[in-house]
Amino acid sequence: MFTAADFIPKTYSSTVENGNFEWSAPSNIALVKYWGKKDNQIPANPSVSFTLNNCKTVTKLAFEKRDTSTPLSVTNGFSFDLLFEGKPKEDFKPKIRKFLERIEVYLPFLKDYHFTIDTHNTFPHSSGIASSASGMAALAMNFMSLEKLLNPEITDEYFYQKASFLARLGSGSACRSVKGNVVVWGEQKNLKGSTDLFGVEFPYTIHENFENYQDTILLVDKGEKQVSSTVGHDLMHNHPYAERRFAQAHENLDQLIAIFENGNVTEFIKVVESEALTLHAMMMTSMPYYILMKPNTLQIINAIWKFRNETHVPVCFTLDAGANVHVLYPENVKEKVLQFIKNELVGFCQNGQYICDEIGTGAVAL
Ligand code: PMV
Repeated sequence: MFTAADFIPKTYSSTVENGNFEWSAPSNIALVKYWGKKDNQIPANPSVSFTLNNCKTVTKLAFEKRDTSTPLSVTNGFSFDLLFEGKPKEDFKPKIRKFLERIEVYLPFLKDYHFTIDTHNTFPHSSGIASSASGMAALAMNFMSLEKLLNPEITDEYFYQKASFLARLGSGSACRSVKGNVVVWGEQKNLKGSTDLFGVEFPYTIHENFENYQDTILLVDKGEKQVSSTVGHDLMHNHPYAERRFAQAHENLDQLIAIFENGNVTEFIKVVESEALTLHAMMMTSMPYYILMKPNTLQIINAIWKFRNETHVPVCFTLDAGANVHVLYPENVKEKVLQFIKNELVGFCQNGQYICDEIGTGAVAL
């Protein structure tokens, strides 16, 4: 059984003065949702997601050994510059600083270097697509590359597990962005290797029906969310339906394990759509209550249901903590669904914008 202490390195066998790395990490879309957490970013229930392929964060990390003659207390601990799309971005720095504080015990070298973190997303800025998952995963991969220079003996398995573990401390769902194609995070009985500490590749057979599964993201509302995910997770404490919801997530994950094996897309749709609506039902029944869906979110959901009833094309939707709709479908109905989206759904998207994505393999060193 893993514990967090397993990720605290004892010593480093090498030294390194400077260098740089670059990693890309994708976004992911949860099928069974993580909503509610305990201390230290431990999830209240297990979740499972498709790793995406096109929506990515690309992050370059340059590092340089600091002048050790200046006491760290004077330089206020961490030293880093942050560039977003090539320009300094001061307002991202507090989030990164907090991340560094959380992971320092696991990466004791962090204060020995000055870092330049140069990052951009492949999806449009302020599209309403959360970049915290891909962003934290890309940064965690870079830090692990540096740890590997300091400790070349670490195995690939440790490298990826610890990268996911660190990413989780930045943003829970980020731990599912390190690997592909289907990733489970959170302990689930009968699911080999599952743990609350990091995401693991789904360890069992996945039916060919789910190969190259498509996700077209309809951008309904690109505005800032009125209620952040952090606040949303917190509202699951003392939530009247929390315990039942957490139990349901285990049940739904069990169902998906069977569905991934037998390829039953009809059953897949039931679990996935129910999960999406349950997530939003938790928001609507917390205190204070709130709604993140927009009128066009509901228009799209209804249009998908009508299209599916009339054509029997197995297309469904899921939602994350926002108004945008992820349209999920097997690759063999891609043409039909894209035509349907163009004919009937684009009108509900802000400026007609949508992003075509599909299941992908995880973080990549560039
Ligand atoms: O990782 P966070 O704290 O941003 O939470 C993400 C929560 C959902 O996207 C709504 C669900 C999930 O499992 O990704």
